[in-house]
Amino acid sequence: MHITSYFAKDLFRGKTVFITGGSSGINLGIARNFAALGANLSIVGRSQEKLAAATAELKAIGAHVVAHSADVRDYPALEKALQETNTALGPVHTLICGAAGNFPCPAADLSPNGFKSVIDIDLLGSFHACRAGFAQLRETQGNIIFISAGMAFMPYAFQAHVGAAKAGIDNLMRNLALEWGPFGIRCNSIVPGPIEGTEGVRRLVPEGSGDLLRKAIPLGRFGTPDDIGQLSVFLASPLASYITGTVIVADGGQNLPGSGAWTQLIATEIAKASR
Ligand code: HXC
Ligand code: NAP
Repeated sequence: MHITSYFAKDLFRGKTVFITGGSSGINLGIARNFAALGANLSIVGRSQEKLAAATAELKAIGAHVVAHSADVRDYPALEKALQETNTALGPVHTLICGAAGNFPCPAADLSPNGFKSVIDIDLLGSFHACRAGFAQLRETQGNIIFISAGMAFMPYAFQAHVGAAKAGIDNLMRNLALEWGPFGIRCNSIVPGPIEGTEGVRRLVPEGSGDLLRKAIPLGRFGTPDDIGQLSVFLASPLASYITGTVIVADGGQNLPGSGAWTQLIATEIAKASR
């Protein structure tokens, strides 16, 4: 399915979309969908190499692109990236807070600095982008989309640091929706399920267990970067102009209480009992 079959292909023409972590994975998928609808893209990440590859890909779709090598933990660096974005492409209309760090680690083995690193990248980094982008978003009456995760509301093994960071992000989102709504700025979170071919899945889905895990998802598949890109485009569009302060889950049902192992065990036990 292609986004231009459903949305006007100049929907975001002349509008600037700023994406932290936009050089790979889900966030690059989001960038591709906005690019296809005419947006100017500004992407942030640490690796120059990844930024160069993503820039080339987005330019090939026809987008104006600027890339900034910056660490979201460094507030002055993000301020600079946002100022340069305004100069090169115009004020930011949509801010995507997508940069994140993740590794599986039992809480009992996690070092304080390991916990802090994830909080600093995900939560503090998201606040940095919002704070530095506020003036431009007020000017455009724009919107912010936070990329959260199921760990924000469901405990997952070896994800204490990520759960704390993403829960903080969703709460930050609600506070900003409340405070910045009067300026015309909307704020929402997206919770992706496991997305095929991404670094997150490489890190968290043990090799060889993909088929088993797919069966534990009610819709029976992992998601794609386009699943999240399409939702982002909708949330940033005028179709969503009355939507703010929400967490929207796009996970094929993976995080429904009772999905997965619980349901499968019950089904197995009921089948056994009725034999
Ligand atoms: C235990 C670890 C660790 C690991 C790092 N640390 N990796 N502890 N197990 N595998 C600890 C280190 O020992 C150190 O603590 C502290 O974390 C900081 O490590 P650095 O390497 O110095 O950190 P830094 O260079 O800042 O890198 C951040 C990072 C890294 C998060 C650790 O993995 C990263 O840059 N990741 C970005 C890409 C990424 O994670 N993408 C996936 C996002 S997916 P000490 O105490 O030794 O100093 C996602 C949700 C997926 O977020 C959901 C899927 C379903
Ligand atoms: P990814 O490709 O590794 O995306 C993370 C991006 O953030 C990378 O471009 C990375 O680039 C950048 N980044 C990391 N630390 C940074 C820092 N300190 N400063 C600036 N940029 C930084 O992983 P992904 O799996 O697609 O995840 C993207 C988003 O979706 C994350 O918010 C993640 O939590 C969320 N999510 C993913 C899944 C999934 O299934 N993959 C599920 C739920 C939620 P550099 O390393 O070059 O800096």
